Amino acid sequence: MEYLDALARLGAGSAHPGGFTATLEQFRQLPLPPGSRILEVGCGTGRTACYLAKQGHKVTALDLRPDMLQKARYRADKEGVEVTFAQGDIAALPLDSNSFDIVMAESVTIFGNIPLALAEYCRVLRPGGTLYDREVVVMRELPDEEQRQLAGFFGYSRLLTCDEWVSALYRAGFGQAQIWNPSPFPEALGEDLIHHPDELQVVDRGAFLDPDIWQKTARHDELIDNNREHLGHAVMIGRKGPDDRSSESEAE
Ligand SMILES: C[S@@+](CC[C@H](N)C(=O)[O-])C[C@H]1O[C@@H](n2cnc3c(N)ncnc32)[C@H](O)[C@@H]1O
Repeated sequence: MEYLDALARLGAGSAHPGGFTATLEQFRQLPLPPGSRILEVGCGTGRTACYLAKQGHKVTALDLRPDMLQKARYRADKEGVEVTFAQGDIAALPLDSNSFDIVMAESVTIFGNIPLALAEYCRVLRPGGTLYDREVVVMRELPDEEQRQLAGFFGYSRLLTCDEWVSALYRAGFGQAQIWNPSPFPEALGEDLIHHPDELQVVDRGAFLDPDIWQKTARHDELIDNNREHLGHAVMIGRKGPDDRSSESEAE
Protein backbone atom coordinates (compact mmCIF):
# COMPACT_ATOMS: atom_id res chain seq x y z
CA MET A 1 0.00 0.00 0.00
CA GLU A 2 1.29 3.45 -0.94
CA TYR A 3 0.98 6.53 1.28
CA LEU A 4 -1.78 8.03 -0.90
CA ASP A 5 -3.74 4.73 -0.73
CA ALA A 6 -3.73 5.01 3.06
CA LEU A 7 -4.91 8.65 2.90
CA ALA A 8 -7.71 7.71 0.52
CA ARG A 9 -8.89 4.79 2.67
CA LEU A 10 -8.85 7.00 5.77
CA GLY A 11 -10.67 9.74 3.84
CA ALA A 12 -8.34 12.30 5.41
CA GLY A 13 -9.96 15.73 5.12
CA SER A 14 -7.07 18.21 5.18
CA ALA A 15 -4.07 16.10 4.29
CA HIS A 16 -1.56 18.89 3.93
CA PRO A 17 0.96 20.51 6.28
CA GLY A 18 -0.76 22.77 8.79
CA GLY A 19 -4.12 21.18 7.96
CA PHE A 20 -7.39 23.11 7.80
CA THR A 21 -6.00 25.59 10.35
CA ALA A 22 -3.37 26.70 7.82
CA THR A 23 -5.96 26.80 5.03
CA LEU A 24 -8.28 29.11 7.00
CA GLU A 25 -5.38 31.33 8.06
CA GLN A 26 -4.29 31.64 4.44
CA PHE A 27 -7.77 32.78 3.35
CA ARG A 28 -7.90 35.21 6.30
CA GLN A 29 -4.58 36.82 5.41
CA LEU A 30 -4.85 36.49 1.64
CA PRO A 31 -8.57 36.80 0.96
CA LEU A 32 -9.80 35.77 -2.47
CA PRO A 33 -11.92 38.17 -4.54
CA PRO A 34 -15.63 37.37 -4.15
CA GLY A 35 -17.12 35.15 -6.83
CA SER A 36 -13.76 33.89 -8.10
CA ARG A 37 -13.57 31.03 -10.60
CA ILE A 38 -11.35 28.64 -8.66
CA LEU A 39 -9.70 25.42 -9.73
CA GLU A 40 -8.54 23.26 -6.84
CA VAL A 41 -6.10 20.64 -8.07
CA GLY A 42 -5.52 17.47 -6.05
CA CYS A 43 -8.67 18.20 -4.07
CA GLY A 44 -8.55 14.90 -2.17
CA THR A 45 -11.79 14.49 -0.22
CA GLY A 46 -12.87 18.02 -1.15
CA ARG A 47 -12.82 19.84 2.18
CA THR A 48 -11.21 23.04 0.87
CA ALA A 49 -13.20 22.94 -2.39
CA CYS A 50 -16.49 22.72 -0.47
CA TYR A 51 -15.43 25.48 1.93
CA LEU A 52 -14.67 27.76 -1.04
CA ALA A 53 -17.96 26.90 -2.74
CA LYS A 54 -19.75 27.78 0.50
CA GLN A 55 -18.06 31.21 0.41
CA GLY A 56 -19.76 31.80 -2.95
CA HIS A 57 -16.89 31.00 -5.32
CA LYS A 58 -17.40 28.98 -8.50
CA VAL A 59 -15.30 25.92 -7.82
CA THR A 60 -13.93 23.14 -10.01
CA ALA A 61 -12.09 20.41 -8.10
CA LEU A 62 -9.81 17.88 -9.77
CA ASP A 63 -8.04 14.78 -8.54
CA LEU A 64 -6.33 11.81 -10.14
CA ARG A 65 -7.97 9.25 -7.87
CA PRO A 66 -11.59 8.12 -8.27
CA ASP A 67 -11.73 7.03 -4.58
CA MET A 68 -10.83 10.55 -3.44
CA LEU A 69 -13.32 12.10 -5.86
CA GLN A 70 -16.08 9.79 -4.65
CA LYS A 71 -15.56 11.03 -1.07
CA ALA A 72 -15.35 14.64 -2.27
CA ARG A 73 -18.68 14.28 -4.13
CA TYR A 74 -20.25 12.83 -0.99
CA ARG A 75 -19.00 15.80 1.02
CA ALA A 76 -20.34 18.34 -1.50
CA ASP A 77 -23.68 16.56 -1.51
CA LYS A 78 -23.92 16.53 2.31
CA GLU A 79 -22.88 20.18 2.54
CA GLY A 80 -25.35 21.10 -0.20
CA VAL A 81 -22.75 23.00 -2.23
CA GLU A 82 -22.16 23.02 -5.94
CA VAL A 83 -18.69 21.94 -7.02
CA THR A 84 -17.77 20.72 -10.51
CA PHE A 85 -15.56 17.65 -10.13
CA ALA A 86 -13.10 16.36 -12.72
CA GLN A 87 -10.72 13.45 -12.84
CA GLY A 88 -7.32 14.21 -14.30
CA ASP A 89 -3.58 14.58 -13.93
CA ILE A 90 -2.06 17.90 -12.86
CA ALA A 91 0.54 17.38 -15.61
CA ALA A 92 -2.15 17.42 -18.35
CA LEU A 93 -5.23 19.23 -17.05
CA PRO A 94 -8.38 18.38 -19.03
CA LEU A 95 -9.46 22.04 -18.83
CA ASP A 96 -9.51 25.07 -21.11
CA SER A 97 -6.73 27.65 -21.10
CA ASN A 98 -7.31 31.04 -19.45
CA SER A 99 -10.44 29.85 -17.64
CA PHE A 100 -9.75 30.36 -13.88
CA ASP A 101 -9.03 33.37 -11.68
CA ILE A 102 -7.36 31.23 -9.01
CA VAL A 103 -5.63 27.84 -8.91
CA MET A 104 -5.35 26.31 -5.43
CA ALA A 105 -3.18 23.35 -4.48
CA GLU A 106 -2.46 21.89 -1.05
CA SER A 107 0.25 19.25 -0.93
CA VAL A 108 -0.32 18.01 -4.45
CA THR A 109 2.27 19.29 -6.90
CA ILE A 110 5.16 17.42 -5.27
CA PHE A 111 3.36 14.15 -6.04
CA GLY A 112 3.32 14.84 -9.78
CA ASN A 113 5.65 16.18 -12.44
CA ILE A 114 6.40 19.63 -10.95
CA PRO A 115 7.50 21.51 -14.12
CA LEU A 116 4.61 20.16 -16.20
CA ALA A 117 2.07 20.78 -13.43
CA LEU A 118 3.18 24.40 -12.87
CA ALA A 119 3.01 25.05 -16.61
CA GLU A 120 -0.50 23.60 -16.66
CA TYR A 121 -1.62 25.76 -13.71
CA CYS A 122 -0.31 28.81 -15.58
CA ARG A 123 -2.06 27.77 -18.80
CA VAL A 124 -5.51 27.41 -17.22
CA LEU A 125 -5.24 30.70 -15.29
CA ARG A 126 -6.55 33.82 -17.01
CA PRO A 127 -3.95 36.56 -17.53
CA GLY A 128 -3.48 38.20 -14.12
CA GLY A 129 -4.78 35.08 -12.34
CA THR A 130 -3.04 33.69 -9.26
CA LEU A 131 -1.74 30.32 -8.12
CA TYR A 132 -1.62 29.50 -4.39
CA ASP A 133 0.24 26.25 -3.86
CA ARG A 134 1.05 25.07 -0.31
CA GLU A 135 3.72 22.38 -0.37
CA VAL A 136 6.33 20.78 1.84
CA VAL A 137 9.61 22.61 1.27
CA VAL A 138 13.24 22.07 2.21
CA MET A 139 14.07 24.80 4.76
CA ARG A 140 17.60 23.66 5.57
CA GLU A 141 19.81 21.40 3.46
CA LEU A 142 18.38 17.89 3.39
CA PRO A 143 20.97 15.10 3.30
CA ASP A 144 20.65 12.79 0.25
CA GLU A 145 19.70 9.77 2.35
CA GLU A 146 16.81 11.65 4.02
CA GLN A 147 15.72 13.04 0.64
CA ARG A 148 15.69 9.48 -0.72
CA GLN A 149 13.71 8.10 2.24
CA LEU A 150 11.09 10.84 2.06
CA ALA A 151 10.71 10.53 -1.70
CA GLY A 152 10.42 6.75 -1.44
CA PHE A 153 7.75 6.87 1.26
CA PHE A 154 5.62 9.68 -0.16
CA GLY A 155 6.10 8.69 -3.79
CA TYR A 156 7.48 11.94 -5.13
CA SER A 157 10.69 12.63 -6.99
CA ARG A 158 12.42 15.37 -4.96
CA LEU A 159 11.56 18.09 -2.46
CA LEU A 160 12.49 21.65 -3.43
CA THR A 161 13.77 24.65 -1.51
CA CYS A 162 11.80 27.93 -1.64
CA ASP A 163 14.35 29.35 -4.11
CA GLU A 164 13.94 26.32 -6.33
CA TRP A 165 10.15 26.79 -6.26
CA VAL A 166 10.49 30.41 -7.32
CA SER A 167 12.75 29.44 -10.24
CA ALA A 168 10.34 26.65 -11.22
CA LEU A 169 7.41 29.12 -11.23
CA TYR A 170 9.23 31.53 -13.54
CA ARG A 171 10.32 28.67 -15.81
CA ALA A 172 6.68 27.53 -15.99
CA GLY A 173 5.67 30.93 -17.39
CA PHE A 174 4.47 32.89 -14.35
CA GLY A 175 5.19 36.62 -14.53
CA GLN A 176 5.66 37.01 -10.75
CA ALA A 177 6.60 34.47 -8.11
CA GLN A 178 6.90 34.71 -4.35
CA ILE A 179 6.91 32.55 -1.25
CA TRP A 180 4.39 33.28 1.48
CA ASN A 181 4.70 32.35 5.14
CA PRO A 182 7.31 29.57 5.26
CA SER A 183 6.57 27.70 8.51
CA PRO A 184 7.80 24.72 10.46
CA PHE A 185 5.55 21.70 10.90
CA PRO A 186 3.26 22.04 13.93
CA GLU A 187 4.72 20.51 17.11
CA ALA A 188 1.75 18.16 17.50
CA LEU A 189 0.88 16.81 14.07
CA GLY A 190 -2.70 15.87 15.06
CA GLU A 191 -3.52 19.24 16.63
CA ASP A 192 -5.41 20.52 13.60
CA LEU A 193 -8.06 17.81 14.00
CA ILE A 194 -8.73 18.95 17.57
CA HIS A 195 -9.37 22.54 16.47
CA HIS A 196 -11.11 21.63 13.22
CA PRO A 197 -12.57 18.12 13.37
CA ASP A 198 -13.79 16.88 10.00
CA GLU A 199 -17.38 15.83 10.53
CA LEU A 200 -17.71 14.51 6.99
CA GLN A 201 -14.67 12.24 6.96
CA VAL A 202 -15.57 8.91 5.38
CA VAL A 203 -13.31 6.08 6.55
CA ASP A 204 -13.37 2.85 4.51
CA ARG A 205 -14.73 -0.14 6.38
CA GLY A 206 -11.90 -1.92 8.23
CA ALA A 207 -9.33 0.81 7.60
CA PHE A 208 -8.84 1.60 11.30
CA LEU A 209 -8.08 -2.07 11.96
CA ASP A 210 -5.65 -2.47 9.07
CA PRO A 211 -2.05 -2.75 10.36
CA ASP A 212 -0.73 -1.45 6.99
CA ILE A 213 -2.58 1.80 7.56
CA TRP A 214 -1.27 2.17 11.10
CA GLN A 215 2.25 1.51 9.82
CA LYS A 216 1.87 4.17 7.13
CA THR A 217 0.57 6.83 9.52
CA ALA A 218 3.24 6.03 12.12
CA ARG A 219 5.98 6.15 9.46
CA HIS A 220 4.61 9.45 8.17
CA ASP A 221 4.86 11.04 11.61
CA GLU A 222 8.29 9.51 12.21
CA LEU A 223 9.70 10.88 8.94
CA ILE A 224 8.35 14.36 9.66
CA ASP A 225 9.61 14.29 13.26
CA ASN A 226 13.07 13.08 12.18
CA ASN A 227 13.37 15.85 9.60
CA ARG A 228 11.89 18.80 11.49
CA GLU A 229 15.16 20.72 11.22
CA HIS A 230 15.15 20.43 7.45
CA LEU A 231 11.51 20.60 6.41
CA GLY A 232 8.65 23.04 6.57
CA HIS A 233 5.83 24.21 4.39
CA ALA A 234 5.09 27.37 2.46
CA VAL A 235 2.63 28.79 0.00
CA MET A 236 4.09 29.37 -3.43
CA ILE A 237 2.31 32.25 -5.12
CA GLY A 238 2.52 32.67 -8.88
CA ARG A 239 0.85 35.50 -10.77
CA LYS A 240 0.25 34.97 -14.46
CA GLY A 241 1.40 37.99 -16.44
CA PRO A 242 -0.85 39.72 -18.93
CA ASP A 243 1.34 38.78 -21.87
CA ASP A 244 2.61 35.29 -21.12
CA ARG A 245 3.32 32.82 -23.91
CA SER A 246 0.23 30.65 -23.40
CA SER A 247 -2.18 33.56 -23.78
CA GLU A 248 -0.27 34.77 -26.86
CA SER A 249 -0.53 31.39 -28.54
CA GLU A 250 -4.25 31.22 -27.68
CA ALA A 251 -4.74 34.55 -29.40
CA GLU A 252 -2.89 33.51 -32.56
C1 LIG B 1 -1.59 14.66 0.18
S1 LIG B 1 -3.10 14.56 -0.68
C2 LIG B 1 -3.78 16.18 -0.44
C3 LIG B 1 -5.25 16.23 -0.75
C4 LIG B 1 -5.92 17.59 -0.47
N1 LIG B 1 -5.32 18.66 -1.22
C5 LIG B 1 -5.88 17.89 1.00
O1 LIG B 1 -5.19 18.82 1.39
O2 LIG B 1 -6.53 17.14 1.76
C6 LIG B 1 -2.55 14.63 -2.38
C7 LIG B 1 -3.70 14.58 -3.36
O3 LIG B 1 -3.18 14.80 -4.67
C8 LIG B 1 -3.73 13.87 -5.57
N2 LIG B 1 -2.76 13.67 -6.65
C9 LIG B 1 -1.55 13.08 -6.57
N3 LIG B 1 -0.94 13.09 -7.77
C10 LIG B 1 -1.79 13.72 -8.61
C11 LIG B 1 -1.73 14.03 -10.00
N4 LIG B 1 -0.67 13.70 -10.74
N5 LIG B 1 -2.79 14.66 -10.55
C12 LIG B 1 -3.88 14.98 -9.81
N6 LIG B 1 -3.99 14.72 -8.49
C13 LIG B 1 -2.95 14.08 -7.91
C14 LIG B 1 -3.94 12.63 -4.72
O4 LIG B 1 -4.87 11.73 -5.29
C15 LIG B 1 -4.41 13.23 -3.41
O5 LIG B 1 -5.80 13.41 -3.38
